[in-house]
Formats: sequence, C-alpha cells, structure tokens
Amino acid sequence: MSEIQEAVRSRYAGAAKQLAVLPRDSAAGCCAVDGPDCGCAGSYSPEEMKQIGLTDAVSLGCGNPTALAELSPGEIVLDLGSGAGLDVLLSARRVSPGGHAYGVDMTDEMLELANRNRDHARFKNATFLKGSIDKVPLPDASVDVVISNCVINLAEDKGAVIQEAFRVLRPGGRLAVADMVELEALSPEVKRRLDSWAGCISGTIPIEEYRAALVGAGFVDVEFDVHATQMLPDVGKVGSAYIRARKR
Ligand SMILES: C[S@@+](CC[C@H](N)C(=O)[O-])C[C@H]1O[C@@H](n2cnc3c(N)ncnc32)[C@H](O)[C@@H]1O
Repeated sequence: MSEIQEAVRSRYAGAAKQLAVLPRDSAAGCCAVDGPDCGCAGSYSPEEMKQIGLTDAVSLGCGNPTALAELSPGEIVLDLGSGAGLDVLLSARRVSPGGHAYGVDMTDEMLELANRNRDHARFKNATFLKGSIDKVPLPDASVDVVISNCVINLAEDKGAVIQEAFRVLRPGGRLAVADMVELEALSPEVKRRLDSWAGCISGTIPIEEYRAALVGAGFVDVEFDVHATQMLPDVGKVGSAYIRARKR
C-alpha cells in the first residue's frame, strides 16, 4: 500500500470507529465526524433515510449520487468507496424488486460498519465487497449504474478508477458521481500533504482533467455541475461537483 493509500485507509478506519458509536437516530448532520472537509451537501430526504434506518450523520460524502442516478427496479448498482453504506442501502431500496446494490471499500472498519447497517435495515439485496476501486472484484459488463460519493479524488490514479468503472458497466450503463474538484490551482506544498489528501482536498483535479479521463476511457455525454464551492485561505479553491456520463 502506498503512503497516500495508507493515509486514506487510516483516516477512514478512524472515522468508521467514530461513526459506529453515533446513535442510529443521530441528528448531528452530514459529515458530523469528518468535518466540512468533504463539502457534504446534506441532500438526503429524511423520509428516505427513515426507510433504511439511518440519518445523514453517517455520510462522509459531498452530495447525493443516488438522486442523480435515476435508478429503476431490477438494476445492478455499484458504489465505489461505499463507506458506512448509506448510498448502497438507498440504491438497494430503489432497485428492489429484482435488483442488487454492491459497495466496494478497502477499509475493514468501514466494511464492518456497512454490514452492520445493512443487517439492521434487513436488506437482502445489498453486498459489501472488500477491494480497491481501481481493481473492482466484479466481472466485465455486469453493472447498470456506477455511483460514488467523494472517493475518486482520493485515488492516486484516477484514470485507472474511471477505466475500471467503464469496464464493469454494461453497454448503455450510467455513471453518477458526487466528487470534489479543484477550481483554482492548489499549491504544490498543499498537494503533497497527506492529511489534506485524505481530507478530500489535495487529490482533487481540475474539471477539464477529470473530463479528459472520462472521455479517454470511452464515456460519452459527460456533464459536470458544481453545486458548492469552498475557498480555503492560503490553500486554494475546491468545489463539490455532480458528474454524469454514459457508456455507449
Ligand atoms: C470520504 S469517504 C466516503 C464514504 C461514502 N462514499 C460516503 O459518501 O459516506 C471515502 C471512503 O472511500 C474508501 N476508499 C478510499 N479510497 C479507496 C480505494 N482506493 N479503494 C477502496 N475504497 C477506498 C474509504 O475507505 C472510505 O470509506
């Protein structure tokens, strides 16, 4: 594991332990544990959350990719970097009956928490897999929709992650992602900081670089929508973006 990957794993192992002791009905709000680093948008409806037995206090995301994805019963969904499992459980409910939602995460503590949340919600059509998002343990063309929430920015090789998303999607499959992007160049000093990388800042890339990686992998109809921005004094400017694309 590289130094960056270890910094990311260790931060989210710690976050999982903090989330595990939050009361299930905590009203602490989105990003309660992780702070505002990931620019979480709080866009989950309380009614929908009630149906999966969680609140958005377990989200470490920067938006709600399930709102973008237009999921239908029977579909297969994959969440890259599924954390505590919130987006997987919401997806599992929406693709039922007949569909299935998978989450992939590399952090054991997060997988344990996600499995506990799944069991509490009594969902049979949600599975959490251990793995890295640049080597997803699913076959080619096996998924209808790939979602992800504030994770791709954490990868050292974003191109490899995007190619992996393309590989597992069926022809016609959709990508619906919430992620942080770099809006004004961050200094090289900030880019090297491991804590800031794990906090979803230093690993961000400009929208045009992100778009080029998607188009290079073969995606079409690529759209970016920046829905929140953060000016970080002496650091630079980042934003939370919704990203949509399609495999022809
Ligand atoms: C910022 S949290 C977001 C979690 C979740 N998507 C959410 O919205 O609450 C990042 C998650 O991605 C996982 N992660 C980061 N890099 C990963 C990688 N290369 N492979 C698999 N999981 C990764 C971390 O373990 C953590 O659970």
